[in-house]
Amino acid sequence: MSVEQALSIIKPDGVQKNLVGEIVGRFEKAGLEIIAARMIHLSREQAEEFYAVHKERPFFDDLVSYMMSGPVMVLVLQGDSAINANRKIMGATNPADAELGTIRADFAESIEENIVHGSDGPDTALQEIAFFFGDGGICPRTRQDCTK
Ligand code: CMP
Repeated sequence: MSVEQALSIIKPDGVQKNLVGEIVGRFEKAGLEIIAARMIHLSREQAEEFYAVHKERPFFDDLVSYMMSGPVMVLVLQGDSAINANRKIMGATNPADAELGTIRADFAESIEENIVHGSDGPDTALQEIAFFFGDGGICPRTRQDCTK
């Protein structure tokens, strides 16, 4: 096992359903640490750029509209095998295929509106973290005595 960082997005439906605390709680209970967090309402340009890999897919326009429909919470998770750990906590992309007890099985309405996004590998994690936090905002989990 190695310590990794993964990007997580709590999508507009997750924020609207007031699930931020519930979802962050699941990450923390699994031993993942939040090292960056920001709430942002994506513009069309940002949503199109973030999901550019899906540009040719038939669901691209609907995906972009959904992702800009309300604010999202973007997070960087850190921990042992954080990328796979997050994917397990989220469950399959299609909630109909997601294991019971996963975020998508518990809360997602459909494959289109599936509550969360998570990086799918180390290269995408690097790119996705840079996309949202390239200008800063990552806080290493240090703790020190500041009384002296
Ligand atoms: P996500 O893990 O963020 O990656 C791409 C997103 O596209 C996916 O979650 C869904 O929100 C959305 N999507 C819509 N339709 C599909 C589909 N048929 N297959 C995969 N992803 C889809």
